Amino acid sequence: MTQNSTQPLLKLTNVCKTFGTTDVLTDINLEVNPGEVLCLLGDNGAGKSTLIKILSGFHEPTSGVMEIDGTPVNFKSPRDASEHGIATVHQFGGTFPLMTIGRSFFVGAEPTRGWGPFKRLDNRFAGEVAVREMQSLGITRVTEGSRLVGGLSGGERQALAIGRAVYFGANVLILDEPTAALGVKEAAHVLRIVMQARQKGVAVILVTHNVTHAMTVGDHFAVLIHGALAADFRKGERTREEITDLMAGGEAMAELEAELEAYQAAHHGHVPDPVELERLAQSKSND
Ligand SMILES: Nc1ncnc2c1ncn2[C@@H]1O[C@H](COP(=O)(O)OP(=O)(O)OP(=O)(O)O)[C@@H](O)[C@H]1O
Ligand SMILES: [Mg+2]
Repeated sequence: MTQNSTQPLLKLTNVCKTFGTTDVLTDINLEVNPGEVLCLLGDNGAGKSTLIKILSGFHEPTSGVMEIDGTPVNFKSPRDASEHGIATVHQFGGTFPLMTIGRSFFVGAEPTRGWGPFKRLDNRFAGEVAVREMQSLGITRVTEGSRLVGGLSGGERQALAIGRAVYFGANVLILDEPTAALGVKEAAHVLRIVMQARQKGVAVILVTHNVTHAMTVGDHFAVLIHGALAADFRKGERTREEITDLMAGGEAMAELEAELEAYQAAHHGHVPDPVELERLAQSKSND
């Protein structure tokens, strides 16, 4: 559902993916708009990464249509997707620990000096651009483009990868669990950078298991359960409890929490022992 009348940047219609005889994604219909953050949520194995791999050209859909600006596309490779302005940032992928910051920023798109046999990477230029782009994302402690990527913190690496995507003109920035291995401060920083990309008109797709992160930056939410789109809603349309519940695969987590609270209230604040806990969970799943 779009808020305005402009057409979505990215549109999926009945996208399916099967591996052998296993249906991993079934009839995914989704629209992604520029200047918005779409949070892709769902339990382990729900199909989030598979969907992202389709969007970024690693997998071809088994059936269904993918459109960019209203034109059907059929990505044959990740390079194909990136030429269509789709950049994917993986938690530890995409950066090479033994490469300098400048080199890693320009990998695959090396700026050159001279020509023919004299072509070579202009290291100084590469380093300056990389540092400038990272600084513009608020990473001010990195001042030397000749430093090795391996010496950067998790959040700094994320900034390098996001800065690179924005610099090379990505319209769609896909982040698969970018905050999963980060501390609170670093995660907040990455989320701030996500907001900056959004402000520049980039469509961001953020995969996360963290409800707080999703609710902080998300404009639009899509929840996958067993490979199907179980919910598609906009900011403010669902409560935190409802989102948590959906992310847990539709199991009544919120209700279980309420049961636990009731148990504690009735048992002088005692937490139920594992057997009792199992019984409570069982009685919920039988509802
Ligand atoms: N290449 C493949 N061949 C067969 N099955 C696959 C393949 N890739 C993924 N799957 C299966 O598809 C399902 C969805 O996997 P996917 O990685 O998309 O889940 P996810 O939502 O990203 O989970 P997580 O939150 O754990 O990262 C899983 O059951 C997985 O085992
Ligand atoms: Mg995954």
